[in-house]
Amino acid sequence: MKTIILLALLAFAPSMRAQQIDLIANTDGRKTISLDGKWQTIVDPYESGFYNYRYQPSDNGYFKNAKPKTKSDLIEYDFDSSESLQVPGDWNTQSDQLFFYEGTIWYKKSFDYQRRSNTRLFVYFGAANYFADVYLNGEKVGQHEGGFTPFNFEITKLVRDTGNFLVVKVDNKRRRDAVPTLMTDWWNYGGLTREVKLIETSTTFVHDYLIQLAKGSRNRVSGWVKLSGDKLKQRITIRIPEAGITKTFATDGNGFAAIDFNADLKLWFPENPKLYEVVVEAETDQVRDQIGFRSLETKGTDILLNGRPIFLRGICIHEEAPLRGGRAYSREDARTLLGWAKELGANFVRLAHYPHNEFMVREADRMGIMVWSEIPVYWTIQWENPATFENARSQLTEMIARDKNRAAVVIWSVANETPLSDARLSFLKNLISHARSLDATRLLSAAMERHYLDATTQMIDDPLGEYLDVLGCNEYVGWYDGLPEKADRLEWKSKYQKPLVMSEFGGDALYNHHGDPLTRWTEEYQENLYRHQLAMLKKIPFLRGTSPWILTDFRSPRRPLPGIQDYWNRKGLISDRGEKKKAFYVMQEWYRELHEKGPDNAKDH
Ligand code: GCU
Repeated sequence: MKTIILLALLAFAPSMRAQQIDLIANTDGRKTISLDGKWQTIVDPYESGFYNYRYQPSDNGYFKNAKPKTKSDLIEYDFDSSESLQVPGDWNTQSDQLFFYEGTIWYKKSFDYQRRSNTRLFVYFGAANYFADVYLNGEKVGQHEGGFTPFNFEITKLVRDTGNFLVVKVDNKRRRDAVPTLMTDWWNYGGLTREVKLIETSTTFVHDYLIQLAKGSRNRVSGWVKLSGDKLKQRITIRIPEAGITKTFATDGNGFAAIDFNADLKLWFPENPKLYEVVVEAETDQVRDQIGFRSLETKGTDILLNGRPIFLRGICIHEEAPLRGGRAYSREDARTLLGWAKELGANFVRLAHYPHNEFMVREADRMGIMVWSEIPVYWTIQWENPATFENARSQLTEMIARDKNRAAVVIWSVANETPLSDARLSFLKNLISHARSLDATRLLSAAMERHYLDATTQMIDDPLGEYLDVLGCNEYVGWYDGLPEKADRLEWKSKYQKPLVMSEFGGDALYNHHGDPLTRWTEEYQENLYRHQLAMLKKIPFLRGTSPWILTDFRSPRRPLPGIQDYWNRKGLISDRGEKKKAFYVMQEWYRELHEKGPDNAKDH
């Protein structure tokens, strides 16, 4: 019995020669080798490549990539003669058989790699939905839970010059205790959904850094640099060549240096998204990054960007690939989606309901679009389950770790439409304080719900509001709640002297499906709904932003209505084929008006 448990532990436990380490910041600025492209795959609904027939983890699973050595050898799988799938990419839209598939698929990639001396090697995943077990050359490297955040492992001691095989077991089965939990309104796209690459570094390298303006300051850069390796005490130089800035600091015995210096920099804002090349130089390594500098605060019900009140003209976006469907992952996808948001007149996007790929935030940085980034604490999470909390917390940590140097990211959101309870409140309060401990510079929010004080008064008094900087609220007056004209009679109240972003509102319409304004699913109904919505929103004195639900139609397993939805949520202002619906122009018109009133038009929206 002891031996079986030991074997099981060995099969689960990462090899001593591999290690999960904190996220390596800014993979763009480093020596990387892409592992994207075709990966050999095995679809394994019964996980027989992982468990033996006694449902115990086998130490001779598919991660061994075994080949028969003699004609009598019994090997019942073979990656190299199996189907392949494209990485990055979800599996659901790559094969009709896998469209509804939820379960395990094994991925294998072979590669050669001559590692130079005095270097280290890491394997980096942009994301894998949902649970990934990673192996190199038959040895466990590590595992990761959460489908929308990056992770990396050190494989320096495991890699060999030729014949390496990287095997990843990806399992997107939904679980009650997971984050998200069983029920969501988006497609559970599975697989290695974002880029996979090798990162080569020197033995002591610049592992991570935060370089942003100090909270509330417009001329003091504050942050830190963290080295990893054996030569931790080093001189660090921060250069911003274009601004003629060169500052040196010294790391301590843990390789950590706090940085703090005055700087006269052009500030980042939507009309002029100024990015500076910033060089982080150590004696043994150097990383370059494109960073914008801007300050963010709230004052009463105002949101201040660089000290000036601003209105967030936004739109929600799901990470659905434009025009082709499936999980979006590329720079082109990001440019298309953000390009449509710009066309709408947006200076802000709510990336729902999980961290999107890094191209989205880097393109938003470049295009001058502010970002609300959220972790998938969505609907009815298991609030009392410590493992669920740890999972949510690690996704929050990874989201902030990846995007903390992006000027475009202005709001971290910890939840969407979560039911009131004490357990929920303490869960979310703990997440909020964790986020503030990692990043004191950005605003915290969550998409909350409202309730009727009386037939015509909406009240925002969710106790969570106490702990947020910006109130987010989802409402579907005119779709799930009455007909569009109902909005005309509603007044909004809030318990808090804080800015409100109406983080969701809208209704479904099938593109090119026409009828009178009260006929559901028609463009005219959606257009009418938006007209009544905007009239209501304009009357809310503490409203400082809007992000209608949603930029484009997106796939959802909860939307089967034949001929109308066909497993698409049709609340997009743009169809799944990129066609603009009538309501798009209603929203565009209002955003044009707001924009013309000039940046400090926050109050009289
Ligand atoms: C909810 C939810 C979204 C969902 C939307 C809808 O508010 O936050 O994820 O897709 O409503 O019902 O269309």
